[in-house]
Amino acid sequence: MSFPQRRLRRLRRTPALRRMVAETRLSVDDLIAPLFVREGIDSPVPIASLPGVMQHTIESMRTEVAALINLGVPGVILFGVPETKDERGSGAWDPDGIVQVALRELRDSFGDSIVLMSDLCLDEYTTHGHCGLLTPAGDVDNDATLELYAEVALAQAAAGADIVAPSGMMDGAVMAIRDALDEDEFENVSIMAYAAKYASALYGPFRDAVDVSIADGGDRKGYQQDPANAREALEEIRQDLAEGADIIMVKPAMSYLDIIARARPEVEVPLAAYHVSGEYAMVKAAAERGWIDGLAVGLEHLTSIRRAGADMILTYFAREAAEALNE
Ligand code: PBG
Repeated sequence: MSFPQRRLRRLRRTPALRRMVAETRLSVDDLIAPLFVREGIDSPVPIASLPGVMQHTIESMRTEVAALINLGVPGVILFGVPETKDERGSGAWDPDGIVQVALRELRDSFGDSIVLMSDLCLDEYTTHGHCGLLTPAGDVDNDATLELYAEVALAQAAAGADIVAPSGMMDGAVMAIRDALDEDEFENVSIMAYAAKYASALYGPFRDAVDVSIADGGDRKGYQQDPANAREALEEIRQDLAEGADIIMVKPAMSYLDIIARARPEVEVPLAAYHVSGEYAMVKAAAERGWIDGLAVGLEHLTSIRRAGADMILTYFAREAAEALNE
């Protein structure tokens, strides 16, 4: 029998051949670990819906970050779980707020050996759970929120953040934050913009992790993107680039690989993707039942996100994947 084309299986024959022709490589350098740090606890608290992930004390966070540095993971992104919340979310910019305390501790302990990022939002800190200030009518007030984001950015920068990551999907957030940082001589602090962030049902476990529930059964559809829209994501990305974003992010990842692939040729700055809590939890849940091999599926997800075009991945698999990649 003769084939009209070359036999494509030839180059798949051995592990060395496959390694040689691999188009996409997943490396420890691509991984960013999200970490939760909670105020007012004495020992770490496991998060039931995110197996293997903890709400950390300052001390347990330090231990985790030391392990990540040893594994070669280049960056972490911090999320705070404050002891008390208020209407405006003031814990987000309080110099003694939990993320600011955590940033100072990590900077003191580890210097520049790992990139310190902080999620920049209000939802973890507000009683109503929205990402911004509410008007009397209960809408999220875009422009009033920008003033608070600027305060949060300055507090995080002063505490030692290398990169702040606005995740609230307010229009103009990147520009407001850039202006505030530059005015206070934090021109070396970068902005990773959650540029194309969808109003996804995949953030459920994250909201357990940060004890957030949105008041009155509300949702974020008034500010996060509709999963039906792809072109709109490109417009979000263009605007954030024009406002000065240093890194662009697409979130979630697996159901939005088309967005990552379409964003790639538009974006010459680094492109990040967030493999979110629900994506991780689904893999872990199925693996716990013995239905899939969790680590293999996790690595397949991460490889697919790289193949779609992302340079870096925020993922709860960071530590596990780094361990596997270092083997
Ligand atoms: C907002 C924020 C969220 C996530 C990251 N930043 C939650 C939201 O938008 O409701 C979700 C991350 C995840 O699900 O892993 N501060």
